[in-house]
Amino acid sequence: MARNERYLIGLDIGTSKVCTVVGEMLDDGGLDVIGLGVAESKGLKRGVVVNLEAAVDSIKKSIEEAELMAGVEIGAVHLGISGPHIKGFNSRGVVAVAGKNREITRDDVRRAIDAARAVSLPNGREILHVLPQDFVVDEQDGIGAPVGMTGARLEVNVHIVTGSVTSTQNLIACVNRAGVEVADTVIGQLAAAEAVITPDEKELGVAMLDIGGGTADLAIFERGSLWHTAVIAVGGDHFTNDIAVGLRMPIPDAEKIKRRAGCALSAMVEEDETIEVASVGGRRPRVMARRILSEIVQPRAEEIFHLVWDEISKAGYEKSLNSGLVLTGGGAILDGMSEIAEQIFDLPIRRGSPVGVGGMADHVSNPAYASAVGLVLYAHRNRSPEAARAGGSALTRMVGRLRTVFKEFF
Ligand SMILES: Nc1ncnc2c1ncn2[C@@H]1O[C@H](COP(=O)(O)OP(=O)(O)OP(=O)(O)O)[C@@H](O)[C@H]1O
Ligand SMILES: [Mg+2]
Repeated sequence: MARNERYLIGLDIGTSKVCTVVGEMLDDGGLDVIGLGVAESKGLKRGVVVNLEAAVDSIKKSIEEAELMAGVEIGAVHLGISGPHIKGFNSRGVVAVAGKNREITRDDVRRAIDAARAVSLPNGREILHVLPQDFVVDEQDGIGAPVGMTGARLEVNVHIVTGSVTSTQNLIACVNRAGVEVADTVIGQLAAAEAVITPDEKELGVAMLDIGGGTADLAIFERGSLWHTAVIAVGGDHFTNDIAVGLRMPIPDAEKIKRRAGCALSAMVEEDETIEVASVGGRRPRVMARRILSEIVQPRAEEIFHLVWDEISKAGYEKSLNSGLVLTGGGAILDGMSEIAEQIFDLPIRRGSPVGVGGMADHVSNPAYASAVGLVLYAHRNRSPEAARAGGSALTRMVGRLRTVFKEFF
């Protein structure tokens, strides 16, 4: 492997932070994290650029920090895409098997997937992912790998993820202005799932909720594939706002106290437990019951999880989650989140930190880095030399993406 082909870079541009992770592919097939850069996110709101200059600045800072730590120059990144403009739906493609002896070839599979992706999209939207779920050969359903089987008719079920063309283009433009190319775009949920969900969980049925600053991104996996994606417009920053309003303090102070003493389930807090809270205007800090803080926070946690439950049941997956719910993203660090979710869902709940990498794994072993680490893992699993080398050209990107679809499958 040439030196510059050894590195895979994940760039996650969140509402709270911009995070760059540098991964190094090892000869034994493993992956080491060798660099991390984190900068405060400016100029972005829920995955969409609102101030170009500020966004470029944040991206530059995060990239430079990662370059410094890793000692490599970053040329191209796998970029995470998220926000409420991302939508997912299921589709199906049907083709007649072409060969004389009716043996299904890769080409038949490709045609079936092409048929499934031939949906008409509203203006201004583009397909980001086409993820095969399973195949039906004649009447036989639930087939994972149909190549080599015999049949007259091949059907494929896929999950299609679409996004707003301009939102994605603006984000790519910022990254380019920061001096790096985009090798591929990956939605946040797919990336985070690479880092925090096990293959067994994906097989048995699991929901993953990435609670960021502005939104909570949901993904539902079953039988090894992605079946449902949704974005819930509530995130960790809403907790901070509630605290700022409830305790009449500036946002930065509310954020500090949330991280230090917040708890999403007030029953977990002893009644006589107290915390010191800074006062405004240079007055002496006041002492208050920690219960009061958690009584402010709890309704927001309940709101998020009820919205998630509504989404899961509306989509019809409430009976499919045999492996329960995995919480990740910075918002999942808040004390008591898993416990309150357990009460609401009555399912096994765990907090997911990135796994599956070596090197400086301890630096990134934090739910807030799930997407960034996952982007590197995703790039590693779906790597093709073309995609790695692809510059910014849309065509190469498309080829890279198409190849990814097939890699995901074969
Ligand atoms: N130790 C902590 N305790 C409680 N909350 C925390 C902690 N650390 C981070 N958070 C919260 O996590 C949220 C940020 O999470 P994350 O870094 O995953 O967001 P992001 O990826 O930048 O945003 P998004 O995914 O919404 O675009 C913030 O609301 C922050 O307050
Ligand atoms: Mg995020």
